[in-house]
Amino acid sequence: MTYRITRRSILAALTAAALMPRAAFAQENKGRVLVLGATGRIGRFIAETIREAGYTVRGVTRDAARAESRWPRMYEWVEADVRDPRTLTAPLEGVDYIVSSIRSSEWSGPYNPEFVDYVGIRNLVDAAKAAHIKHFVLVSTATSGPQVDQSQNPAKNYVRYFKTKGEEYVRESGLSWTIIAPGRVPEEPGGQTGMILHARKDYFISNIAAGDVALVALDALTNPAARGKAFALRNDPDVPLDAWRDQYAGLPDK
Ligand SMILES: NC(=O)c1ccc[n+]([C@@H]2O[C@H](COP(=O)([O-])OP(=O)(O)OC[C@H]3O[C@@H](n4cnc5c(N)ncnc54)[C@H](OP(=O)(O)O)[C@@H]3O)[C@@H](O)[C@H]2O)c1
Repeated sequence: MTYRITRRSILAALTAAALMPRAAFAQENKGRVLVLGATGRIGRFIAETIREAGYTVRGVTRDAARAESRWPRMYEWVEADVRDPRTLTAPLEGVDYIVSSIRSSEWSGPYNPEFVDYVGIRNLVDAAKAAHIKHFVLVSTATSGPQVDQSQNPAKNYVRYFKTKGEEYVRESGLSWTIIAPGRVPEEPGGQTGMILHARKDYFISNIAAGDVALVALDALTNPAARGKAFALRNDPDVPLDAWRDQYAGLPDK
């Protein structure tokens, strides 16, 4: 096949070239996302996916020097501890969206589920409201949630109960929110197989790649269909790769 250079083809090439810098500019200015848990097993996939999509990522950690040495110059690392609301004000300056993928790092002691998964999320939500963010995405867990009375479940120092209370606080905050509740999460890239979004009451524990949780978190930032939805999710090699994008409509808010 031959390609004829015509006036029209030159004009098209020039127009495309003229548009390129603007497209790149738009990519760089999608907004700033505060990612809590950006050093964690799932959160690091989320931070990377959101950065690659053209957002500025500000990663929250309790140890910025450790994070910066591991992921140098990739994100704006800031130190904060969700247990202390005073540490959350500065990190939220200039932030458009929040994704929280944190969890208590111990079952008992100062970083227990009550202090991190409940009080910490409560502090974060209050700070997010004061900062007028556009959308809040919480990565929780499929085994929590109001579909079961978790107050009678003392396993791991009532972690399911306290995660459920954290979720409730998000749901009742008045913020725009999405709650993503994975089950078992291998640290694998996303977009390799299809996935299905589930109401948690219909869900049985199965795998969802960390990279796929990240793809859903990215989508939830700006997709109006994901607002006010709480759901579990799992990989299913038998469904088309993008089928999940049409599944928000049937999902509940719990
Ligand atoms: N991984 C799984 O298989 C799995 C399965 C189902 C559900 N989930 C849910 O997915 C979410 C993320 O889990 P994960 O396994 O990725 O967590 P993870 O690897 O244990 O990482 C926990 C993250 O939380 C941060 N963090 C802990 N305490 C904090 C505090 N007081 N203030 C600020 N940040 C704090 C840590 O940051 P620094 O250490 O840098 O401070 C770390 O980045 C959780 O809600 C979890 O329940 C995970």
